[in-house]
Amino acid sequence: MNIDKKFQNTFINVTSRAALSSYFLVGKKDKISADKAAVDSMRKELNKIEMNGKIVIGEGELDEAPMLYIGENVGTKNGPTLDIAVDPLEGTNFVANNLPGALSVIAIANESNLFGAPETYMNKISANCSDPGVIDLDFSVKKNIFNLAEFKNQKPENLTACVLDRPRHKEIIDELKKLNVKLKLISDGDVAGALMVIDKKYSVDIFLGIGGGPEGVLAAAALDAYDCRFQGRFIFNTDKEKDRAKKMGITDFEKKYELNEIISGDSIFCATGITSGDLVSGIKINKDKFTSETLITHKSSGLKKIIKTEQII
Ligand code: FBP
Repeated sequence: MNIDKKFQNTFINVTSRAALSSYFLVGKKDKISADKAAVDSMRKELNKIEMNGKIVIGEGELDEAPMLYIGENVGTKNGPTLDIAVDPLEGTNFVANNLPGALSVIAIANESNLFGAPETYMNKISANCSDPGVIDLDFSVKKNIFNLAEFKNQKPENLTACVLDRPRHKEIIDELKKLNVKLKLISDGDVAGALMVIDKKYSVDIFLGIGGGPEGVLAAAALDAYDCRFQGRFIFNTDKEKDRAKKMGITDFEKKYELNEIISGDSIFCATGITSGDLVSGIKINKDKFTSETLITHKSSGLKKIIKTEQII
């Protein structure tokens, strides 16, 4: 069943309000308060919506997160039954330190159509090619770059690869340097990192490397609407992580997830800028009003664009 178009504006409002709440804490060196402000606001808005919503990706398990925890029911309980993945503040460092790129993010799908990712790392890859043979998590960096260059009729040195700047990515970065690929190293925010392949204007051809699993699922929800390619493989380092995964129904710890195993059917994705970044502009306040920019996708209606809204604070 398709998700009603009326929910497009509804969810833009949810991420815009969460973004605004967090915006008031930009540059205050307080990640926890900035995150809490976004969470409180997002939860309040979600609870006003006529739906039977269930948080499948949120702030963690009930024992560690009192709000927007995995399994929490949100909405008025009248209306469609929806799975909801949230990251009210993606890029806590960005807000704390007044840096570009902080987002408020949500993804919605019909019941059981959105993968409930555990709170672990995920190895991810994305590119703007739906052809299955071009990029793959199991290919070497070299093979992915050469295949993609051939697919795009480009030379490897004209491709740009986005990678989270972390010591764990030294090998990937060294290999990309050897291949003379242009690097776009990001300090945080790999939802945007994985999404920058959607449009030529962002000048990113491939995203690869390890980041948060929940962030991977959120990015996948938007990439699905763009017909891009994405794969993810969770990384379970500890017994505790493995136990949690088992409880969530994951039995194969090595499994490589394709896009259609992460999200299926109809979906809506919204990412609103808190501080201006590559993907969208941040919140701007003018007297009693604020403007926000949201990248929205709605798969069944073919909607995929950036929408600017102005609202009363
Ligand atoms: P937070 O908003 O929770 O701080 O996450 C920011 C982020 O950069 C994510 O975009 C990314 O998936 C993850 O952290 C990477 O984790 P780590 O900093 O441990 O490498």
